[in-house]
Amino acid sequence: MAAQTSYQPPKRYQSRHLPFGDRRDAPFYGKHILSVKQFSREDLTYIFEVAHEMREMVMRVGSFDLLKGKILANLFYEPSTRTASSFIAAMQRLGGSVIAINEVRYSSVAKGESLPDTIRTLEAYADVIVLRHPQKGSAALAAKYARKPIINAGDGTGEHPTQALLDLFTIQEELGQVDGLTVTLLGDLKYGRTVHSLARLLSMYRVKLHYVSPPELRMPREIVEEIAQAGIPQEEHVHLDDVLADTDVLYVTRVQKERFDDPEAYERVKDFYIITPEVMARAKDRMILMHPFPRVYEITLDVDEDPRAAYFRQMEYGLYVRMALLAMVLGKA
Ligand code: CP
Repeated sequence: MAAQTSYQPPKRYQSRHLPFGDRRDAPFYGKHILSVKQFSREDLTYIFEVAHEMREMVMRVGSFDLLKGKILANLFYEPSTRTASSFIAAMQRLGGSVIAINEVRYSSVAKGESLPDTIRTLEAYADVIVLRHPQKGSAALAAKYARKPIINAGDGTGEHPTQALLDLFTIQEELGQVDGLTVTLLGDLKYGRTVHSLARLLSMYRVKLHYVSPPELRMPREIVEEIAQAGIPQEEHVHLDDVLADTDVLYVTRVQKERFDDPEAYERVKDFYIITPEVMARAKDRMILMHPFPRVYEITLDVDEDPRAAYFRQMEYGLYVRMALLAMVLGKA
Protein backbone atom coordinates (compact mmCIF):
# COMPACT_ATOMS: atom_id res chain seq x y z
CA MET A 1 0.00 0.00 0.00
CA ALA A 2 1.28 3.48 -0.84
CA ALA A 3 2.42 5.53 2.16
CA GLN A 4 0.06 8.39 3.13
CA THR A 5 1.69 11.80 2.78
CA SER A 6 0.58 15.37 3.01
CA TYR A 7 3.05 16.48 0.35
CA GLN A 8 1.52 17.94 -2.86
CA PRO A 9 3.62 18.76 -5.93
CA PRO A 10 3.53 22.40 -7.06
CA LYS A 11 0.12 23.14 -8.65
CA ARG A 12 1.55 23.90 -12.08
CA TYR A 13 2.77 20.28 -12.31
CA GLN A 14 -0.51 18.71 -11.16
CA SER A 15 -2.94 19.51 -13.95
CA ARG A 16 -2.98 20.16 -17.64
CA HIS A 17 -2.06 23.79 -18.13
CA LEU A 18 -3.88 25.93 -20.68
CA PRO A 19 -1.28 28.00 -22.51
CA PHE A 20 -2.17 31.52 -23.51
CA GLY A 21 -4.17 31.66 -26.74
CA ASP A 22 -5.56 28.13 -26.65
CA ARG A 23 -9.29 27.92 -27.19
CA ARG A 24 -11.00 25.77 -24.55
CA ASP A 25 -14.19 25.78 -26.61
CA ALA A 26 -12.49 24.48 -29.76
CA PRO A 27 -13.93 21.09 -30.78
CA PHE A 28 -11.46 18.31 -29.90
CA TYR A 29 -9.33 20.62 -27.77
CA GLY A 30 -7.19 18.38 -25.54
CA LYS A 31 -8.96 15.23 -26.80
CA HIS A 32 -7.34 11.93 -27.75
CA ILE A 33 -7.87 10.63 -31.28
CA LEU A 34 -8.05 6.88 -30.74
CA SER A 35 -10.80 5.40 -32.88
CA VAL A 36 -13.13 6.42 -35.68
CA LYS A 37 -15.95 5.39 -33.36
CA GLN A 38 -15.53 8.68 -31.49
CA PHE A 39 -16.64 10.80 -34.49
CA SER A 40 -20.13 11.86 -35.53
CA ARG A 41 -20.92 12.81 -39.09
CA GLU A 42 -21.02 16.44 -37.92
CA ASP A 43 -17.46 16.05 -36.59
CA LEU A 44 -16.32 14.69 -39.96
CA THR A 45 -17.81 17.66 -41.79
CA TYR A 46 -15.97 19.99 -39.42
CA ILE A 47 -12.63 18.15 -39.72
CA PHE A 48 -12.88 18.17 -43.52
CA GLU A 49 -13.69 21.89 -43.55
CA VAL A 50 -10.56 22.58 -41.51
CA ALA A 51 -8.51 20.18 -43.69
CA HIS A 52 -9.77 21.94 -46.80
CA GLU A 53 -8.68 25.29 -45.35
CA MET A 54 -5.27 23.81 -44.52
CA ARG A 55 -4.94 22.71 -48.13
CA GLU A 56 -5.75 26.21 -49.37
CA MET A 57 -3.27 27.76 -46.91
CA VAL A 58 -0.47 25.38 -47.92
CA MET A 59 -1.12 26.15 -51.58
CA ARG A 60 -1.16 29.88 -50.89
CA VAL A 61 1.67 30.32 -48.36
CA GLY A 62 3.33 26.93 -47.80
CA SER A 63 3.81 27.25 -44.03
CA PHE A 64 2.32 29.45 -41.32
CA ASP A 65 2.70 29.92 -37.57
CA LEU A 66 -0.58 28.56 -36.14
CA LEU A 67 1.26 26.10 -33.85
CA LYS A 68 4.41 28.13 -33.26
CA GLY A 69 5.93 27.08 -29.94
CA LYS A 70 4.06 23.75 -29.84
CA ILE A 71 5.93 20.43 -29.82
CA LEU A 72 4.81 17.07 -31.22
CA ALA A 73 6.34 13.79 -30.02
CA ASN A 74 6.15 11.30 -32.90
CA LEU A 75 6.59 7.87 -31.27
CA PHE A 76 6.73 4.96 -33.73
CA TYR A 77 7.28 1.37 -32.54
CA GLU A 78 6.56 0.07 -36.08
CA PRO A 79 7.90 1.17 -39.47
CA SER A 80 6.14 4.00 -41.28
CA THR A 81 6.86 6.29 -44.18
CA ARG A 82 3.63 8.22 -44.79
CA THR A 83 2.12 8.53 -41.32
CA ALA A 84 5.36 9.46 -39.57
CA SER A 85 6.58 11.91 -42.19
CA SER A 86 3.20 13.53 -42.82
CA PHE A 87 2.72 14.22 -39.10
CA ILE A 88 6.21 15.77 -39.01
CA ALA A 89 5.46 17.82 -42.13
CA ALA A 90 2.05 18.83 -40.73
CA MET A 91 3.60 20.12 -37.49
CA GLN A 92 6.39 21.93 -39.31
CA ARG A 93 4.04 23.53 -41.85
CA LEU A 94 2.08 24.87 -38.86
CA GLY A 95 5.24 26.39 -37.35
CA GLY A 96 5.65 23.81 -34.56
CA SER A 97 8.52 21.43 -33.89
CA VAL A 98 8.90 17.67 -33.49
CA ILE A 99 10.62 15.11 -31.27
CA ALA A 100 10.83 12.19 -33.70
CA ILE A 101 11.34 8.70 -32.25
CA ASN A 102 11.17 6.44 -35.28
CA GLU A 103 13.61 3.87 -34.02
CA VAL A 104 12.49 2.91 -30.52
CA ARG A 105 15.48 0.57 -30.25
CA TYR A 106 17.62 3.70 -29.82
CA SER A 107 15.38 4.96 -27.01
CA SER A 108 14.96 3.60 -23.48
CA VAL A 109 12.30 1.21 -24.82
CA ALA A 110 15.29 -1.00 -25.69
CA LYS A 111 16.12 -1.11 -21.94
CA GLY A 112 12.64 -2.40 -21.15
CA GLU A 113 10.80 0.86 -20.48
CA SER A 114 7.03 0.39 -20.43
CA LEU A 115 4.66 2.24 -22.77
CA PRO A 116 3.05 4.22 -19.90
CA ASP A 117 6.46 5.38 -18.68
CA THR A 118 7.54 6.40 -22.18
CA ILE A 119 4.30 8.32 -22.67
CA ARG A 120 4.59 10.10 -19.30
CA THR A 121 8.15 11.03 -20.18
CA LEU A 122 7.36 12.44 -23.61
CA GLU A 123 4.39 14.45 -22.37
CA ALA A 124 6.77 16.25 -20.03
CA TYR A 125 8.40 17.70 -23.16
CA ALA A 126 5.69 17.74 -25.83
CA ASP A 127 2.13 19.08 -26.24
CA VAL A 128 0.75 16.15 -28.25
CA ILE A 129 1.92 12.56 -28.87
CA VAL A 130 1.40 10.56 -32.07
CA LEU A 131 1.78 6.82 -31.38
CA ARG A 132 2.16 3.81 -33.68
CA HIS A 133 2.46 0.49 -31.84
CA PRO A 134 2.10 -3.18 -32.88
CA GLN A 135 -0.40 -4.06 -30.14
CA LYS A 136 -4.12 -3.58 -30.54
CA GLY A 137 -5.37 -1.34 -27.72
CA SER A 138 -1.97 0.29 -27.14
CA ALA A 139 -3.21 3.78 -28.01
CA ALA A 140 -6.06 3.44 -25.52
CA LEU A 141 -3.55 2.25 -22.90
CA ALA A 142 -1.31 5.25 -23.61
CA ALA A 143 -4.32 7.59 -23.33
CA LYS A 144 -5.13 6.15 -19.90
CA TYR A 145 -1.83 7.48 -18.59
CA ALA A 146 -1.47 10.66 -20.65
CA ARG A 147 -2.54 14.19 -19.72
CA LYS A 148 -1.73 15.44 -23.22
CA PRO A 149 -3.60 14.32 -26.38
CA ILE A 150 -2.62 10.95 -27.88
CA ILE A 151 -3.23 10.42 -31.59
CA ASN A 152 -3.43 6.77 -32.65
CA ALA A 153 -1.26 6.29 -35.75
CA GLY A 154 -2.08 2.56 -35.97
CA ASP A 155 -2.35 0.00 -33.15
CA GLY A 156 -1.58 -3.47 -34.52
CA THR A 157 -4.63 -5.01 -36.20
CA GLY A 158 -6.85 -2.49 -34.39
CA GLU A 159 -7.44 0.91 -35.96
CA HIS A 160 -5.72 3.62 -37.96
CA PRO A 161 -8.20 6.47 -37.50
CA THR A 162 -6.19 9.27 -39.13
CA GLN A 163 -5.75 7.11 -42.24
CA ALA A 164 -9.52 6.53 -42.40
CA LEU A 165 -10.12 10.26 -42.06
CA LEU A 166 -7.72 11.04 -44.89
CA ASP A 167 -9.26 8.27 -47.01
CA LEU A 168 -12.72 9.74 -46.57
CA PHE A 169 -11.40 13.25 -47.19
CA THR A 170 -9.83 11.96 -50.42
CA ILE A 171 -13.18 10.58 -51.60
CA GLN A 172 -14.94 13.82 -50.70
CA GLU A 173 -12.35 16.05 -52.42
CA GLU A 174 -12.00 13.84 -55.52
CA LEU A 175 -15.65 12.94 -56.13
CA GLY A 176 -17.35 15.88 -54.40
CA GLN A 177 -19.52 13.68 -52.15
CA VAL A 178 -19.63 10.40 -50.25
CA ASP A 179 -23.38 9.77 -50.17
CA GLY A 180 -24.65 7.61 -53.00
CA LEU A 181 -21.30 5.94 -53.79
CA THR A 182 -20.48 2.26 -54.16
CA VAL A 183 -17.17 1.55 -52.43
CA THR A 184 -15.28 -1.71 -52.97
CA LEU A 185 -12.67 -2.70 -50.39
CA LEU A 186 -10.27 -5.27 -51.80
CA GLY A 187 -7.44 -7.46 -50.53
CA ASP A 188 -6.49 -8.24 -46.96
CA LEU A 189 -9.68 -7.29 -45.16
CA LYS A 190 -8.85 -9.45 -42.15
CA TYR A 191 -5.62 -7.82 -40.98
CA GLY A 192 -5.89 -4.47 -42.81
CA ARG A 193 -6.65 -1.97 -40.05
CA THR A 194 -7.20 0.83 -42.57
CA VAL A 195 -10.21 -0.94 -44.08
CA HIS A 196 -11.69 -1.62 -40.65
CA SER A 197 -11.57 2.06 -39.75
CA LEU A 198 -12.71 3.20 -43.20
CA ALA A 199 -15.72 0.84 -43.29
CA ARG A 200 -16.82 2.20 -39.93
CA LEU A 201 -16.57 5.81 -41.12
CA LEU A 202 -18.34 5.05 -44.40
CA SER A 203 -21.24 3.56 -42.45
CA MET A 204 -22.17 7.13 -41.41
CA TYR A 205 -22.97 7.88 -45.07
CA ARG A 206 -25.50 6.51 -47.56
CA VAL A 207 -23.12 4.11 -49.30
CA LYS A 208 -23.07 0.55 -50.63
CA LEU A 209 -20.06 -1.56 -49.59
CA HIS A 210 -18.50 -4.49 -51.42
CA TYR A 211 -15.82 -6.59 -49.74
CA VAL A 212 -13.60 -8.52 -52.16
CA SER A 213 -11.06 -10.87 -50.57
CA PRO A 214 -9.72 -14.43 -50.55
CA PRO A 215 -11.96 -16.54 -48.23
CA GLU A 216 -9.26 -16.63 -45.52
CA LEU A 217 -8.90 -12.82 -45.46
CA ARG A 218 -12.58 -11.82 -45.14
CA MET A 219 -13.71 -8.75 -43.24
CA PRO A 220 -13.98 -9.63 -39.52
CA ARG A 221 -17.53 -10.62 -38.50
CA GLU A 222 -17.77 -8.01 -35.75
CA ILE A 223 -17.18 -5.23 -38.29
CA VAL A 224 -19.71 -6.68 -40.77
CA GLU A 225 -22.27 -6.85 -37.94
CA GLU A 226 -21.50 -3.31 -36.80
CA ILE A 227 -21.95 -1.96 -40.35
CA ALA A 228 -25.17 -3.97 -40.79
CA GLN A 229 -26.57 -2.35 -37.66
CA ALA A 230 -26.05 1.03 -39.32
CA GLY A 231 -28.31 -0.21 -42.17
CA ILE A 232 -25.58 -0.18 -44.83
CA PRO A 233 -25.92 -2.71 -47.68
CA GLN A 234 -22.84 -4.97 -47.81
CA GLU A 235 -21.85 -7.82 -50.11
CA GLU A 236 -18.87 -10.18 -49.97
CA HIS A 237 -17.18 -11.50 -53.11
CA VAL A 238 -14.08 -13.41 -54.11
CA HIS A 239 -13.88 -12.09 -57.70
CA LEU A 240 -13.39 -8.37 -58.38
CA ASP A 241 -15.13 -8.59 -61.77
CA ASP A 242 -18.42 -9.35 -59.97
CA VAL A 243 -18.52 -5.72 -58.76
CA LEU A 244 -15.92 -3.69 -60.66
CA ALA A 245 -18.26 -2.11 -63.23
CA ASP A 246 -20.54 -0.91 -60.42
CA THR A 247 -17.72 0.58 -58.29
CA ASP A 248 -17.10 4.32 -57.72
CA VAL A 249 -14.18 3.89 -55.30
CA LEU A 250 -11.86 0.88 -55.47
CA TYR A 251 -9.80 0.72 -52.28
CA VAL A 252 -6.96 -1.80 -52.60
CA THR A 253 -4.92 -3.09 -49.65
CA ARG A 254 -1.66 -4.97 -49.32
CA VAL A 255 -1.68 -8.49 -47.88
CA GLN A 256 -0.10 -7.87 -44.47
CA LYS A 257 2.78 -10.36 -44.45
CA GLU A 258 3.92 -9.27 -40.99
CA ARG A 259 0.60 -10.35 -39.42
CA PHE A 260 0.76 -13.99 -40.71
CA ASP A 261 2.02 -16.71 -38.34
CA ASP A 262 2.34 -19.22 -41.22
CA PRO A 263 4.55 -18.05 -44.17
CA GLU A 264 2.90 -20.61 -46.50
CA ALA A 265 -0.51 -19.13 -45.80
CA TYR A 266 0.88 -15.74 -46.90
CA GLU A 267 2.34 -17.22 -50.11
CA ARG A 268 -1.06 -18.73 -51.01
CA VAL A 269 -2.86 -15.35 -50.94
CA LYS A 270 -0.25 -12.69 -51.70
CA ASP A 271 -0.91 -12.52 -55.46
CA PHE A 272 -4.66 -13.06 -55.33
CA TYR A 273 -5.50 -9.64 -56.83
CA ILE A 274 -3.31 -7.50 -59.07
CA ILE A 275 -4.67 -4.28 -60.53
CA THR A 276 -3.30 -3.72 -64.06
CA PRO A 277 -4.29 -1.36 -66.92
CA GLU A 278 -6.43 -4.24 -68.26
CA VAL A 279 -8.41 -4.36 -65.01
CA MET A 280 -8.75 -0.54 -65.04
CA ALA A 281 -10.16 -0.75 -68.59
CA ARG A 282 -13.20 -2.57 -67.17
CA ALA A 283 -13.82 0.11 -64.48
CA LYS A 284 -15.96 3.27 -64.62
CA ASP A 285 -14.40 6.36 -66.22
CA ARG A 286 -15.02 8.33 -63.00
CA MET A 287 -13.92 5.62 -60.58
CA ILE A 288 -11.02 6.46 -58.27
CA LEU A 289 -8.41 3.90 -57.28
CA MET A 290 -7.08 4.26 -53.74
CA HIS A 291 -4.47 2.43 -51.67
CA PRO A 292 -3.14 3.35 -48.20
CA PHE A 293 0.38 2.23 -49.26
CA PRO A 294 2.93 0.76 -49.01
CA ARG A 295 2.07 -1.28 -52.12
CA VAL A 296 3.92 -4.46 -52.92
CA TYR A 297 2.37 -6.42 -55.80
CA GLU A 298 -1.27 -5.31 -55.77
CA ILE A 299 -1.13 -2.46 -58.31
CA THR A 300 1.33 -2.55 -61.21
CA LEU A 301 3.45 0.57 -61.79
CA ASP A 302 1.91 1.24 -65.21
CA VAL A 303 -1.43 1.99 -63.52
CA ASP A 304 0.14 5.11 -61.93
CA GLU A 305 -0.32 7.10 -65.15
CA ASP A 306 -4.07 6.51 -65.12
CA PRO A 307 -5.75 9.73 -63.87
CA ARG A 308 -8.09 7.56 -61.80
CA ALA A 309 -5.10 6.37 -59.72
CA ALA A 310 -5.62 8.65 -56.71
CA TYR A 311 -3.15 7.08 -54.27
CA PHE A 312 -0.40 9.69 -54.50
CA ARG A 313 -2.96 12.50 -54.16
CA GLN A 314 -4.40 10.52 -51.23
CA MET A 315 -1.03 10.80 -49.43
CA GLU A 316 -1.09 14.57 -49.88
CA TYR A 317 -4.65 14.81 -48.52
CA GLY A 318 -3.21 13.08 -45.44
CA LEU A 319 -0.99 16.08 -44.77
CA TYR A 320 -4.00 18.43 -44.66
CA VAL A 321 -6.09 16.13 -42.45
CA ARG A 322 -3.19 15.74 -40.01
CA MET A 323 -2.61 19.50 -39.96
CA ALA A 324 -6.31 19.91 -39.12
CA LEU A 325 -6.17 17.32 -36.33
CA LEU A 326 -3.05 18.81 -34.73
CA ALA A 327 -4.56 22.30 -34.82
CA MET A 328 -7.81 21.00 -33.35
CA VAL A 329 -6.41 18.98 -30.45
CA LEU A 330 -4.10 21.88 -29.59
CA GLY A 331 -7.00 24.33 -29.48
CA LYS A 332 -6.10 26.39 -32.53
CA ALA A 333 -8.88 25.44 -34.96
N1 CP B 1 -0.67 4.28 -44.91
C1 CP B 1 0.26 4.15 -43.96
O1 CP B 1 -0.05 4.03 -42.78
O2 CP B 1 1.54 4.16 -44.42
P1 CP B 1 2.84 4.06 -43.49
O3 CP B 1 2.83 2.66 -42.89
O4 CP B 1 4.00 4.30 -44.40
O5 CP B 1 2.70 5.08 -42.41
